[in-house]
Amino acid sequence: MKFSMSVNSKNKKGQELIIIPAHKTKNKKVVSNTNWPQEYRNSFSKIKASKSFDGSKGKAFLFPLENGSTIMAVGLGEKESLNFESLRCEMANVFKKIQHDNSEAIIKIEQFILEDDIEKSLASIIQGLMLAAYKFERHLTTKSETKLKKIILELDNKNPKNEKLTKKAIHENSIVCESVNFCRDLVNEPPNILNSEYYAKLVEKDSKTLNRVKVKVLGKDQLKKEKMGMFLSVNAGSAYAPRLVHLTYTPKKVTKKTKHIALVGKGLTFDTGGYSLKPSGSMMNMKFDMAGSSTVYGAFRAASLLNSDVKITCLLGITDNAVNEKATMPDSIVKARNGKTVEILNTDAEGRLVLGDVLSYASDLKPDAIIDAATLTGACLVSLGNEICGLMSNNDYLVEQILSSAKEVDEYMWQLPIIEPFRKDMKSNIADLKNMGGSRFGGTSKAAAFLENFVDPKIPWAHLDIAGVGDSQSHLPYCPTKGASGSIVRTLTNYLLNQ
Ligand code: BES
Ligand code: MN
Ligand code: ZN
Repeated sequence: MKFSMSVNSKNKKGQELIIIPAHKTKNKKVVSNTNWPQEYRNSFSKIKASKSFDGSKGKAFLFPLENGSTIMAVGLGEKESLNFESLRCEMANVFKKIQHDNSEAIIKIEQFILEDDIEKSLASIIQGLMLAAYKFERHLTTKSETKLKKIILELDNKNPKNEKLTKKAIHENSIVCESVNFCRDLVNEPPNILNSEYYAKLVEKDSKTLNRVKVKVLGKDQLKKEKMGMFLSVNAGSAYAPRLVHLTYTPKKVTKKTKHIALVGKGLTFDTGGYSLKPSGSMMNMKFDMAGSSTVYGAFRAASLLNSDVKITCLLGITDNAVNEKATMPDSIVKARNGKTVEILNTDAEGRLVLGDVLSYASDLKPDAIIDAATLTGACLVSLGNEICGLMSNNDYLVEQILSSAKEVDEYMWQLPIIEPFRKDMKSNIADLKNMGGSRFGGTSKAAAFLENFVDPKIPWAHLDIAGVGDSQSHLPYCPTKGASGSIVRTLTNYLLNQ
C-alpha cells in the first residue's frame, strides 16, 4: 500500500472514495458534522441518514456527492473520548471495510487532527492502515487479493508547513510500518524454514539495504573462542549451527558526544524445552521464541533507514532449543562467557542462557545503554497478561526514557522490580548461579535477576519481556488476530530516534 499527498484539487474524476470523520454528540442521536464542507453536509442531509448513523465508533456511513464521488463518514465516537490510539484502531477498521472494494481512497486528513498535533495524528492514520494491511500469505497457494493499493492524504488548502509535515509523516511512518511488518514476517515463518542459519542469512541480506550498517555473523567456532558456554549449551542438541548476528549502524556525523546504544535479542527459532521437554500444548507456536531478536532488528532497521543520530549495535543470539543425544542434560554445569558457572536445572529456561552470554559480549563494547528484548517467561503472561510488555532494569533514568517512548506510541509497558531475594534465589549451592528460581513465583523478575549477572553494572541496562505482547494481539485491530504482532518495534524505534 502506497501513500501520497495531495492538496484539494476540486476537479475530481467523480469516482473517488473520500474519507472524513464523524463524531457522536453527547445526549443526541445526531452526528456532529459541522466541520464538513457544505457540499458534503447537503448531500448527507438529503439522504436523511443522520438517524441511522450516529457517528459511534466502528460504524461508517457511505453517501454520494453530486459529482459522483462517494463519501465515507467514519464514526469516531464522541470527540472528547478520541485519542491517538483509538484513531489508529479506527483507521485499521476503515482499512478492513474498504480493502476489497476500492483500489484507492482519499483521506481528508485535516479533519482528523487531534490535539492540534498533525504529526501524531498522521502517525496514527498511516500506522492504523498500514499495520492492518499486513498479511502472512507466503505459504498459501491461493492468496487473498487486497484491492486497496493507494491512499491519498489530502489537505484542504495549500499550506507549506502542513505539506512538509505530511510528506515527512508518510516517509517516516512507512519505514516504521515496513519494519514492523518485516519483524512479523520473520516471526511467522515456520521453524523448518527459518532455522538459525537461514535466519542469520536473511537478516544479513536485509541489512545490506540499510544506511551505514556493517554486519558480522559469528558461528560455532567463534562462539567457542568467545567462551560462550551458556549459549553453546542451548545449541548442543541442535541440527543447526548457532549464530550471533552482530550489526553496527554508524550515524552520518560522529562526535565525542555521539551516544552508543546496544540492542540484544533472544532468537530461539524454536523452543522444544530441550530435555525438560515442553508438553505439546505449550510447545505449539514456539517458533515465535525468536520474536525478541526480530523486534530489536526491526527497530534497528527503522532507525538506520531514518538516519538516527546515535550509534547502534544490534546483537541477535540465534539457535533452536532441541533434543538429541548431545543435548544438554538438566543438572549440567556450564561456564558463561564472563566466567560465572551456571547450574542448568531446567533446559527450558534457555533464553537467559543465550542472552546472558550475548549481554556480556555487549557489555565489552561499552555502550551507553543496553536494551534486550526476549520472549523470556510464561510468568510474564501471568503477571501482565497478553497486553503488557514487562520492563526490568538497573537504571531508573533508562526506565523513564523507555516507558515514555512506549507511551508516546501507545504500547503498554510496565516495570517489574528486581529485588535482593530474587537475586538470592538465582544462586546455586554447587555453582555461582542456577538458571531457575526455587519456585515459579515472580518468574519474570527472577529471570531478569539472572540476566543482571552478565551485564557490566556500570552500564544502564533494560530487559523487555515480550512473551505476552509478541504474539497475537487480537484486541488491537491493527494487529493480525492470530500470529506475530510486531509490538515494541515502534517503542524501540521511537526510543532510538529520541536520543
Ligand atoms: N520461551 C519460553 C517462555 C514462554 C512461554 C514464552 C510461554 C511465551 C509463552 C521460555 O524459554 C521458557 O520456557 N521459560 C520457562 C522458564 C522456566 C522453566 C523457569 C517458563 O516460562 O516456563
Ligand atoms: Mn524455554
Ligand atoms: Zn524460550
